[in-house]
Amino acid sequence: MAKEYGYFDDAHREYVITDPKTPFPWINYLGNEDFFGLISNTAGGYDFFKDAKFRRITRYRYNSVPMDSVGRYFYIVDDRLVWNPGWKPCKTALDGYECRHGLNYTRITGVKNKVRASVLYFVPLGVKAEIQRLTLTNESDEKKTLKLFSYTEWCLWNGATDGENFQRNLSTGEVEIERSEWTAIYHKTEYKERRNHYAYYSVNCPVNGYDTDRESFVGLYNDLSEPQAVLEGKATDSLAHGWSPIASHYIEVGLAPGESKDFIFVLGYEENEEGNKFASNSQFSIHNSQLLTSLGERDHHIINKERAHEVIKRFSTVEAVEAAFAELQALWDELLSKYRVESLDERLNRMVNIWNQYQCMITFCMSRSASFFESGIGRGMGFRDSNQDLVGFVHQIPSRARQRIIDIASTQFPDGGCYHQYQPLTKRGNNDIGGGFNDDPMWLIFGTTAYIRETGDFSILDEMVPWDNEPGSEVSLMEHLRISFDHVVNNLGPHGLPLIGRADWNDCLNLNCFSNDPNESFQTTGNKTEGSRAESLMIAGLFVYCGRQYVDLLKSRAESKETKDEIARAEKEIEKMCKAVEQFGWDGAWYLRAYDYYGNKVGSHENEEGKIFIESQGWCGMARIGAELGMLDKALDSAAQLLDSEHGMVLNYPAYTTYHIELGEQSTYPAGYKENGGIFCHNNPWVIIAQTEAGRGNDAWTLYKKIAPAWIKDQDLHKVEPYVYCQMVAGKEAAKPGEGKNSWLTGTAAWNWLTISQHILGIRPTYEGLMINPCIPSDLKEYKVTRKWRDAEYVITVKNPNGKQHPDQPVVLPYAPGKHTYEVVL
Ligand code: BGC
Ligand code: NOJ
Repeated sequence: MAKEYGYFDDAHREYVITDPKTPFPWINYLGNEDFFGLISNTAGGYDFFKDAKFRRITRYRYNSVPMDSVGRYFYIVDDRLVWNPGWKPCKTALDGYECRHGLNYTRITGVKNKVRASVLYFVPLGVKAEIQRLTLTNESDEKKTLKLFSYTEWCLWNGATDGENFQRNLSTGEVEIERSEWTAIYHKTEYKERRNHYAYYSVNCPVNGYDTDRESFVGLYNDLSEPQAVLEGKATDSLAHGWSPIASHYIEVGLAPGESKDFIFVLGYEENEEGNKFASNSQFSIHNSQLLTSLGERDHHIINKERAHEVIKRFSTVEAVEAAFAELQALWDELLSKYRVESLDERLNRMVNIWNQYQCMITFCMSRSASFFESGIGRGMGFRDSNQDLVGFVHQIPSRARQRIIDIASTQFPDGGCYHQYQPLTKRGNNDIGGGFNDDPMWLIFGTTAYIRETGDFSILDEMVPWDNEPGSEVSLMEHLRISFDHVVNNLGPHGLPLIGRADWNDCLNLNCFSNDPNESFQTTGNKTEGSRAESLMIAGLFVYCGRQYVDLLKSRAESKETKDEIARAEKEIEKMCKAVEQFGWDGAWYLRAYDYYGNKVGSHENEEGKIFIESQGWCGMARIGAELGMLDKALDSAAQLLDSEHGMVLNYPAYTTYHIELGEQSTYPAGYKENGGIFCHNNPWVIIAQTEAGRGNDAWTLYKKIAPAWIKDQDLHKVEPYVYCQMVAGKEAAKPGEGKNSWLTGTAAWNWLTISQHILGIRPTYEGLMINPCIPSDLKEYKVTRKWRDAEYVITVKNPNGKQHPDQPVVLPYAPGKHTYEVVL
């Protein structure tokens, strides 16, 4: 039996880690609005406001040694023993350890020498701060005198400059320290000039000392496992002047036998308007605080701290913290009540009712920006990524999905092309990454139609949305959709199939870049699109699938002559595309993947490597192209035969073993990894949906279970978190098949949500009503789904006494407010 590092506690919606030495840091996310934190099971990680690049609050050193080495730490000194509740950084062996990752909160508990230290970390709703409630309990029969040190390191706002221009950073750091009935350390680097924001770290009591300068606290030749101040048992009361500002409180704590004490730390961020940035003299006297600043007497730029004070005061009691925590729990009760399954399979219930939905919230908030695999500085909100993410989130908070759609569409160009990414803070397209991914526009149709089917809110189509954020350029969102559709129609290649541009969903299938310069990135380098014949079957399938969504949307709108003409036009284009795929996109037993720059086949039995690819089987399969001709069934059989493995279906087979300049980045990855034969979890659900399209419930279920984290068998092999999907699991040709990488921020979350909720369990919102169309394993005898849809609630029981895989006909329940109960027998 493989070693387990923890277990699911479904009743509390938590994953409980019982051994701090997990095979990789197993993290969680705090916050689901604007203030976010990443936190590992040993309290590593960092915080940011909205944007992990431009508003990074605390520091993190990625890809470093030791791994996961900065965070928000507490050091406890008990006599001469120093330890941390989360084991790191001191790594003193603990008598007890537990980390409970819950929905937007984490509770880490350590026990040593009969002292229990438990820290609850969360971000209260509507608050720009992380709360850390530390409870210290003396479980011994003797009085204990402990020394407590907090520790966090400030990042000087722009996460990128730490790596590229730290010569400046090392001279700019400034802080203030405020000692009153609470103690707060303020980080105000660059506040006196162009910034209108500051951060703070407070504790709800007076302290015995503090540190704000890293070197003074840690010691020049020490590391975080042995900070000098902690070893010496005394803070140095240091004032940071440049170098690396930190925030550390030092508190002496006496605990009688059995006694418990709570400390509330607030790690927050605030903004002040220009003109209101600095404190007036009266503000000091009001709080009777003792104030120290880096510049001392000469500092004319004392922060106006009113906003921070409000938060610090609000969270000065345990009751207030508990109330805010209860609010967060109540939000999750509400969010998770929108779709709930009850079945005899606890893993299915766990994925559907808790973890898959939770991950969808996180991918919606983060897109691909900040995780333990994404630095937070390179990739913001993806055009394609965010459209997909919102399909997993739209039922949770539709109004936020609505805003996201408008934000995304605002970065589109007038010809329908798109910036591939935009920054969450500015909402502007990211010029460094550029555009030219020809699948991007279609995803806007995918996201928008999902929103309307969920909400019935057609008014979004009339929203006036600019091109490239240019004021005055606004047209309706509906017009953006039309132009998105036409971007494919206007960019067809010699076979009538979509030109791929820079790449399609597979960012690494770079058919036009021909790069032989190691100093350039495949993702951004110039492309030879002029005269290119590179066409994508993935986009062809996507176009047919999302094109039909566009047509359905038009059909559900007013029947004007104009709309009817548009429907006819769009249907003709879709029909043409289907014919092009049947004629030029079929390899005999599966769908081809592409034609390269020269018009040669990619993903064909004629190729030596990369004979078959998953994306086109998934997309052309979902779109049922050539299904009547037997193509869908054959493609699924081929995928099962050539792509499938113990851990899921690989992206392509056989993987490339040499660099193909005409294929680009894909062929640079070692065989079995990433886009070269890795199990890209993201596109397994495409095949699963295609399987449900073919009525293959047993196959769909088998593949679903291979990818879903609740079924992971070997945590050491899988390595990354066992409660969320990862982007990639090493494929069958890899050195270590089954090893997971790049957890959390992946479209896999939304796609698996769509797959399980709408296609396997089969409860699907449509314009006409709620469709019930399950495609399940024949041995699933019964399940019940409670679905809150718009302002109605449907309780649907599906019974399968005869071991079928799907009903003969789907049922559509018309939308009507109120509560409805239905039973469907297959
Ligand atoms: C990765 C892709 C990713 C792309 C964009 C590539 O190196 O393999 O998965 O989408 O970079 O950052
Ligand atoms: C990760 C990217 O976020 C996503 O947009 C892309 O489709 C996949 N990699 C595949 O390359």
